Amino acid sequence: MQSDQAQAEEDSAHVERVLLHRAIASSQNGITIGRVSNGQFPLIYANRAFYHLTGYGPAEVIGNDCRFLQGRLTRQPGLETLRAALAQTREATVLLRNFRKDGTEFWNELTVSPVLGDNGVLTHYVGIQHDVTERENNAQAVRALNQSLARQAEELALANESLRSFSSSASHDLRAPLSSIKGFCAALKKSADMPQGGRSAHYLGRIESNAERMGQLIEALLKLAQSNTGALQVVECNLSAMAREVVDGFKRASPELAATVHIEPGLTALGDASLLYSVLQNLLGNALKYSSKTPDATVHFGREVSSAGQARFFVRDNGEGFDMKAAAKLFGAFERFHSESDFPGTGLGLATVRRIVMRHGGAVTAESAPGEGAVFYFTLETPPAS
Ligand SMILES: Cc1cc2nc3c(=O)[nH]c(=O)nc-3n(C[C@H](O)[C@H](O)[C@H](O)COP(=O)(O)O)c2cc1C
Repeated sequence: MQSDQAQAEEDSAHVERVLLHRAIASSQNGITIGRVSNGQFPLIYANRAFYHLTGYGPAEVIGNDCRFLQGRLTRQPGLETLRAALAQTREATVLLRNFRKDGTEFWNELTVSPVLGDNGVLTHYVGIQHDVTERENNAQAVRALNQSLARQAEELALANESLRSFSSSASHDLRAPLSSIKGFCAALKKSADMPQGGRSAHYLGRIESNAERMGQLIEALLKLAQSNTGALQVVECNLSAMAREVVDGFKRASPELAATVHIEPGLTALGDASLLYSVLQNLLGNALKYSSKTPDATVHFGREVSSAGQARFFVRDNGEGFDMKAAAKLFGAFERFHSESDFPGTGLGLATVRRIVMRHGGAVTAESAPGEGAVFYFTLETPPAS
């Protein structure tokens, strides 16, 4: 007859065993137990999740070593690690490519752990099968995407580099014949053979002004090429001082420019000084140019917070303006809204501005209406205190 206490202990051990069995049976991961038998591990137990995962039934599983899941993939890298761990009675977690009964593949993150008997001798291994197919497929897709992005970035860098060297050498190579044309024009003008004031003199004048325009185009092309390459030398730039210098330069070169220019003091940004100078030169140059025929022309350079709460710099004028329907083309190279005779220009200035601002991680936008002036907004990183 058992004592009441012994009976109670036996009951509680039984409850524990049943609970343990149920817990293992209801695990979402596959759980298997393999008996150690001459270097093989024939399974003595597999839970429901294992059968569900592999599609095999107990008759095909119990008594067999799990290697039947590997199909022809018996030399996968994970298996080397697993074989070493099994041989040394160690736990291991490996990633294996396995096959279900219907031949479909899945990624199995398998953990095997040795189970020792009371005397410390290895008797079994417990294996936990975790189906990580979705995770691995996603990771593979991310890897493929990264590779293709890296390839594209490399191709883009190469294309950019050849474009830069093309436009830069083209620009340099064009300068020499152009200055020769200009030189001969000047010589011809002074020449005694040149009848003054006649048709020939007029044609010569046209050649000269076209050569002049071509020179400006070459300069602008060179600037555009430079705006796109070379490492950015980022420093704190005093944009207000730069703007003042730019405007003074324009007014010196064209004293007829009568616009009143307001420059907000203390505007600073982080960026490459020579490139940001180029941005201001283009935007303020445009503002002065397109307001030059407006009475009481006013140009304003400042910084404001947009309705969306974004701090942005702006260059505003009350000049000619343009139709916003064409705004999409505004920043493209060689896009011009006004005729050369009305407002001379190269059509490269805003393309250069956009490239520079984009390279600094900012954005440039414009708002305008015909006859109502224009405002160009651009964002740049600013020093912490500003
Ligand atoms: C408990 C246990 C579970 C295992 N489960 C898997 C499994 O799900 N998939 C698999 O490919 N291998 C599994 N293995 C590994 C193989 O059964 C086998 O040990 C391995 O392929 C190395 O043996 P081999 O050198 O004869 O191929 C398991 C091993 C043990 C001990």
